[in-house]
Amino acid sequence: MPTSLVLLGGTGDLAQKKLIPALMDLMLKGVLPDRFHVIGFSRDDLDDKGYQAFVRAQIGRKGHGHEHQAIDSFVERFSYVQGDFNDKVAFERIKRSLVAYDETIGMCTSKLFYLAVPPNFYDTIFEQIAHTKLDQPCVVGEGWTRVLVEKPFGSDLDHAHYLEDKLSVLFREEQIYRIDHYLAKDALQNIIAFRFSNGLFENNWNKDYVEAVYLKVFEKFDVSTRGAFFDGVGALRDVGQNHMLQMLALVTMQTPEKLTADALRSTRAKLLRSLHVPTTDDLGTNIVKGQYEGYRDTKNVDPKSNTETYFALKTYLDTPEWDGVPFYLEHGKAMQESKTELTVRFRSSKDCVCGESEPHDHPNFIRFTISPEQKITVRFWVRKPGLKYELEPNDLVFDRSTTLSEGVLVTDAYEEVLYDGICGDQTLFVSSEEQAAAWKYVTSILNLWEDNEPQMYEKGSRGPESPLADEMHHGMKLLT
Ligand code: BG6
Repeated sequence: MPTSLVLLGGTGDLAQKKLIPALMDLMLKGVLPDRFHVIGFSRDDLDDKGYQAFVRAQIGRKGHGHEHQAIDSFVERFSYVQGDFNDKVAFERIKRSLVAYDETIGMCTSKLFYLAVPPNFYDTIFEQIAHTKLDQPCVVGEGWTRVLVEKPFGSDLDHAHYLEDKLSVLFREEQIYRIDHYLAKDALQNIIAFRFSNGLFENNWNKDYVEAVYLKVFEKFDVSTRGAFFDGVGALRDVGQNHMLQMLALVTMQTPEKLTADALRSTRAKLLRSLHVPTTDDLGTNIVKGQYEGYRDTKNVDPKSNTETYFALKTYLDTPEWDGVPFYLEHGKAMQESKTELTVRFRSSKDCVCGESEPHDHPNFIRFTISPEQKITVRFWVRKPGLKYELEPNDLVFDRSTTLSEGVLVTDAYEEVLYDGICGDQTLFVSSEEQAAAWKYVTSILNLWEDNEPQMYEKGSRGPESPLADEMHHGMKLLT
C-alpha cells in the first residue's frame, strides 16, 4: 500500500535519534512500502534539499556504514514543509505536498501522521488536521489514514479526556495509535512469552508465592537539552504514566484469551484499572518526589521549578491475584547508573533445610533486565561446596545477546512502532481504556504532591534518601 508519512516535529530530538534511523533500518530490511514518502514538518528554515541533508546527517550520526546508493535512495523519499503548528496556511502546504506526491505517482497514498511533539501542541494540531480535512482520504474508501501520538498523551486525566474527545471526532479508535515505545521493546514482549509459555513460573505467579515486585528505571544522564519539554512534564508523566505502568501491567496481568490486539489491550487495561489509588497518608511514606541538585539551572527550566526528576512509589493492586503484594516503582534521571529492570521476589520456602546459613532468608528472584543488556535471571539456592552443609545463591541467566544468530539484531522499538503503524497492528499501542486507567492513578499522585518541594539529591547518587528507598534496597539486596 503506497504510504505518505507526515512527521510533525520532523527535526526534533525523537526524529533525529530514533525515527529517521528506524525508517532507514526498515528500508534496508525491505519492509517499507515501495511507494513511501515522508514529509518532515517543523519551524526550522529548510527546504527539501536542506531537509534531505539533515536526514542524511542523522544516518551518518548513528554510524550506519551503508552504501551511498542506499542512503541516496532513502533520503530521496523525504520532502519538507516549514511552518508553525498554529499556522493554518502551513497545514494547507502539507496538504498540497501530499496531493503533489499522489499525483506524481498516480495513486492515492494512505496517510500516517506522526506527532513527535510535546503534548501541549496536540490540541492545536488536531484542530489544524480537522480544519484542513487532512483526516479525509483522497478517494473515499481507498487507503487509510492513521495518527500516531507520542506519550505523554495529555497532562492529567481531565486533559487526556479532553484530547480524546477532540481526537475521536476526527478518527475512529482503530485509526489512533497511542505510542508507548516500551511496549514495542523486545525485552518487554519477552515478558509475555516467558510468563505465559512456562507453567513452571506462571503457576506460582500470584500473591501466594510472590512477596514483592520491584521496577526501576534509572538513567545516568540528566535532562540536558530537554529542559523545555521536561520541565512542563516531569518524571512521573514522562516515564511513570506510560513505560513503568505498562511494565507493571505485563508482569501482573491475567492470561490474555488470545494474542490479538483487542485481547491484549483489554487485559492490560483491566490490570491498570485495579491500581490502588493513593491518599494523603501515602505522601512521604509510599510516595517520594525528588529533584537532582542543579536541575533548576538547566536551560529552559524555571529557576524555581518543583518538577520531579525522580520518584519512588509503593503501590498495590486491588485484584484477588495480587491483593496485599507491594509493587515498588522507582525512576530517576542523573542517577549513579543507567539500568532498567523488573524484579519479582518470591516468598522463601516455608521451612528450609538451610544448614548453618540461618536465619532463613532464601527467597528466589526472577529478574527481567530490560537495559542496558537484555537478560532474564532466575536466582536459586544450591549447596555450597565444602565439608559443611551451607547454601549459596546461584543464577540461571538467559542473555539475549548470546542467543542471537550471527548478523541478527534485536528489532529496535521504534522500528516496531513504525512498522506496526504502517501494517495496522495495534497490539503494542495503548488503548483509550489503558490510557484513562493509567492517568487516573497518576493524576491522584500529581494532585497529592502538587506544589510540594521535591527532596534534593546529588547527581550521580542513588536518589534522595528515604525510608521507602531503604525498603526497596533492602528487598533487593540479595540480588545485586
Ligand atoms: C522516553 C522519555 O519516553 O523514554 C525519556 O521521554 C526517557 O525521558 C526514555 O529517557 C527512556 O527510554 P529508553 O528506551 O531509552 O529506555
